[in-house]
Amino acid sequence: ESAKETPEYVLAIDQGTTSTRALIFDRGGDIVASGQKEHRQILPKAGWVEHDAQEIWRNTREVVGLALTEAEINRHSLAAVGITNQRETTVVWDKVTGEPIHHAIVWQDTRTQRICDELASGHGTERFKERVGLPLATYFSGPKIRWILDEVDGARERAEAGELLFGTMDTWLVWNMTGGPDGGVHVTDVTNASRTMLMNIDTLDWNDEICAEMGVPVAMLPEIRSSSEVYGYGRKKGLLIDTPIAGILGDQQAATFGQACFEPGQGKNTYGTGNFMLMNTGEDIVRSENGLLTTVAYKIGQQKPIYALEGSIAVTGSLIQWLRDNLGLISSAAESETRAKEVEDNGGAYIVPAFSGLFAPHWKPDARGVIVGLTSYVNRSHLCRAALEAVAYQSAEVVDAMDSDADQELTELKVDGGMVVNDTLMQFQADILGVEVVRPRVIETTALGAAYAAGLAVGHWQGTDELVANWSEDRRWSPQMDEQTRARSMRLWKKAVQRTMEWVD
Ligand code: G3P
Repeated sequence: ESAKETPEYVLAIDQGTTSTRALIFDRGGDIVASGQKEHRQILPKAGWVEHDAQEIWRNTREVVGLALTEAEINRHSLAAVGITNQRETTVVWDKVTGEPIHHAIVWQDTRTQRICDELASGHGTERFKERVGLPLATYFSGPKIRWILDEVDGARERAEAGELLFGTMDTWLVWNMTGGPDGGVHVTDVTNASRTMLMNIDTLDWNDEICAEMGVPVAMLPEIRSSSEVYGYGRKKGLLIDTPIAGILGDQQAATFGQACFEPGQGKNTYGTGNFMLMNTGEDIVRSENGLLTTVAYKIGQQKPIYALEGSIAVTGSLIQWLRDNLGLISSAAESETRAKEVEDNGGAYIVPAFSGLFAPHWKPDARGVIVGLTSYVNRSHLCRAALEAVAYQSAEVVDAMDSDADQELTELKVDGGMVVNDTLMQFQADILGVEVVRPRVIETTALGAAYAAGLAVGHWQGTDELVANWSEDRRWSPQMDEQTRARSMRLWKKAVQRTMEWVD
């Protein structure tokens, strides 16, 4: 038996929309090892997207094993575990058996449109906005819980009797990791709770009145905790037995944390399945007048909560997947860049991927995707380029909204996420924004942010200054497009967006 050493690493579990990953970080914030596994996207009908929560829990255990094996370490080398997750995705399960009573309903799913319309009727979609920071939209968890309780036989009675539990993916994983039916802790953090439409944005408590109006019994909701504290320990036969689970952040907030955006005015844009731009607004709750969300950025232990403005875009990386899987236009995501590079421009074609309606800054649930500007000149390469451009145009609209809300202009954009390896996209983003785009050394900022939150809670890192010192720049793109081309491109993009709203059944 060797003497106990100070653990050197922190493990982050990133439960995302398409896959679950485990990453091990060293003290400098660099990745030591990782494991990843995709899960099924269950698409029962148009607009519906589900996940099997049990499959995700199995994958979680598997990827943790893969990462530990690759790093050739065991739990004794881990100071703590942090969790980050796709937000809003909703699971309801039986407290005694641990079995979900329905597939998880994913954030992109639009089945709750009717529920949202009913709640908005006579009040408008901003009915709860003052209290929760969000407009009524299918995106958020509250209406999804309501749908499950309405549709699954006997579910509402069982929820009221305290037999069922609700959770976003963070809650589901922590409950299972800490013992499941056998003493599992039922918690979430303020960032995830801020996406349910059920939490007061100022007091950070569940709002009884909204819960009642939404038809969600408070008894099934998890306890709301900070983003950085020890919630519990790995239990049972797991690989992480007795390891403190000490950080929870919704994935976009985690990326903001991982990018060390700790000062008001600092922000980041993450390029994943969708794109999500968050700007730290400090202790102030800023209400958007331009279609952005007010959300909690993080809360470290007993400290005051820090807020953010968010521009959420539902479809960006998943548009590239769609070109690959639904159209067969390319055989890999990387090919989209190779193809796009074969042409000078989009050949006049614009793609607006309003697959889940349009999120920020429009919030038009009934918008539907369009491809416009087609002529016989347009080929596969032009369409690939148009798809990449769509990612950048949508982000440019969100930057515009941020600039208006914040009353000051963005000077540079910090980026992260899988798509930022795409040089063509990053250059176009800088061009269309007219500002510099900056990529950090570690682009896995989502997992890094969760690791940081967990490490801070157990004293592995002393404070945010240490995290700021870990951040360093890898690459920067400067705008090269002339002002006239930029203005014309943006104008055509806006016309294309208009078309998505005209296409209503
Ligand atoms: O709000 C949804 C967001 O959290 C999903 O993120 O990275 O799984 O696409 P991602």
